[in-house]
Amino acid sequence: MSTRTWDLPLRLFHWGLAASAVAAFLTGDELTRGRAHVVLGTLAVGLVAFRFGWGVVGEPTSRWRAFTRVHTLPAALSAVTALALVLGLALTGVLVLGGEEGRGPAAGLVSAPMGIAVHSVHRALAWAGVAWLAVHLAGVAKQSWAERRNLVRAMVDGRKGVTGPAVRLRTGVAVALVAAAPLVVALPDRAPAPLQRPVAWDRECGDCHLAFPPDLLPARSWDAMLASEDHFGEFLGLDPATADELRAWATAHGADAGETEHAVRIAATVDANALPQRITTLPWWEGIHAAVPLGDEPRTRCADCHPDAERGSFDARAAHPEDRRET
Ligand code: HEC
Ligand code: HEC
Repeated sequence: MSTRTWDLPLRLFHWGLAASAVAAFLTGDELTRGRAHVVLGTLAVGLVAFRFGWGVVGEPTSRWRAFTRVHTLPAALSAVTALALVLGLALTGVLVLGGEEGRGPAAGLVSAPMGIAVHSVHRALAWAGVAWLAVHLAGVAKQSWAERRNLVRAMVDGRKGVTGPAVRLRTGVAVALVAAAPLVVALPDRAPAPLQRPVAWDRECGDCHLAFPPDLLPARSWDAMLASEDHFGEFLGLDPATADELRAWATAHGADAGETEHAVRIAATVDANALPQRITTLPWWEGIHAAVPLGDEPRTRCADCHPDAERGSFDARAAHPEDRRET
């Protein structure tokens, strides 16, 4: 009968990874996605990095050299799978963050459509993690029964009935610090650089309503709008040179250019023959705001609810009134 012993750093790693992975899973949905989710995911990566380091300089029973000796084959495969899942989730997570939100280390390197595509892989890996956890828990229960020993408790107090080697906590702390160092660089949340816009866009389009970011309508819509004399009953009176400048810029950054997550979603849901002139009647816009109590508030006043609308940012978290009150 094998007698397991887990040193303290390894036990802290185990429960830290369990807690951060579960919490990351719970904060992963569209709305709560954000700082908490990214921080928890980063923490999990740091813990995995620690585990690799600890496998080199840690207690003898935690070393990679002893890995197949202290684990049964299924247990060894299971542990490696868990580490691989976390790394896969971290890698895809960075790509999603960069592609969809324009944030994090991959901002500017990954296109919005790519970010959206990788998002399904990220989600699939997260559910694979749930499946893994179910198998893991079943395995622990089965093994506890076979060994007549509570392995969960052993993972808490470590040295059940065994006098293991002295726990070299100081080494553990040192490895943890080294593993955490890169995270300090990765963590700061770099906001996406706002799209540079012509001065004339703010001047000519920002008087009566928000100077809408151009990625909210397809290029052909801007083309038609800026060529028209009648702007929702108003006369824009643009001089031809300005009209040309604005049209060239807006059409280059229209929804069909797919530069942001919502641009990709808008382009995908607008009828190819349609020439929408309103953002607020796009199926995409109505879908997102279906559950938002709009009341009598003019829908075009995006900035009333989206504090960063001027910069082209419509973060759902910032838009929620209950969240707004908190900040
Ligand atoms: C003189 C005032 C005025 C100016 C200047 C103006 N607009 Fe408008 N715009 C309006 C009005 C009025 C509406 C209709 C608003 C409503 O129904 O709530 C509108 C609506 C819009 C809409 C549709 C909003 C929606 O989703 O319902 C877009 C897009 C738009 N304007 C773009 C522009 C652009 C681009 C410019 C600059 C070239 C511009 N506007 C300049 C008055 C103006
Ligand atoms: C009365 C408040 C209100 C107004 C006005 C409003 N929104 Fe929103 N918007 C919200 C809320 C609340 C959400 C979050 C919905 C949810 O929970 O998914 C949201 C979500 C969004 C999202 C999705 C954000 C994300 O992170 O997924 C976009 C994009 C957006 N709005 C764009 C606009 C634009 C463009 C306008 C103006 C034409 C506008 N909104 C006007 C309240 C508003």
